Amino acid sequence: MKHPTKFWDRIAQRYSEKPIADEDSYQKKLQVTREYFRPDMKVLEFGCGTGSTAIAHAPYVGHIRATDISSKMIEIAQAKADAKNIDNVTFEKATLQEVDAADQSLDAVLGLSILHLLEDREAAIARVFRILKPGGIFVTSTPCLGDTMKFFKYVGPIGTFLGLIPMVKVFTVADLVSSLGAAGFEIEHQWQPGKGQAVFIVAKKPV
Ligand SMILES: C[S@@+](CC[C@H](N)C(=O)[O-])C[C@H]1O[C@@H](n2cnc3c(N)ncnc32)[C@H](O)[C@@H]1O
Repeated sequence: MKHPTKFWDRIAQRYSEKPIADEDSYQKKLQVTREYFRPDMKVLEFGCGTGSTAIAHAPYVGHIRATDISSKMIEIAQAKADAKNIDNVTFEKATLQEVDAADQSLDAVLGLSILHLLEDREAAIARVFRILKPGGIFVTSTPCLGDTMKFFKYVGPIGTFLGLIPMVKVFTVADLVSSLGAAGFEIEHQWQPGKGQAVFIVAKKPV
């Protein structure tokens, strides 16, 4: 699929109406993330979808800049924030590489259910590392299909070609941990609710 934006624009409304698959795990991830938050923090979320997580975290930080490639996702996210009178989240249509953020300017970056959808995960992780302040954290929750669904590497592209699913990169938890380490991150927290489920990682840029 040449234009992933079209795919995400097309499913944005349905995505926003879909209930969270595992509410307990989602709440636990929110809670662990908040243990690292302070009220003055500047946070970036990339691939924010319809903004639910940014909106949920908004009361715990100074400001969240939430970005996504899909303008439909951003439209829905903005409407949700407006309805809740959330005024410290700014939504923006952009990829991580396009976001205008100075090096060492952010306290936390969130990338949830997104790293497996990027052509170049290493480049994304390197950019996150650069824009974080020393001591800043990168929070990611990532499906790692290489551990339980290696075959997806072969069938996934067919679904992508037919426009049924987005492009998905297949890698293992060990691959992801290794990419984070190679970029300079230290793993602070790592949790996988169950076999085959997304791995939740809090990685720190050393001081
Ligand atoms: C699986 S959804 C996850 C949304 C949200 N983070 C969540 O956890 O519910 C992936 C999101 O990433 C966005 N996306 C896909 N490729 C992207 C890219 N290269 N840069 C930024 N966002 C992207 C999609 O538009 C979609 O909203």
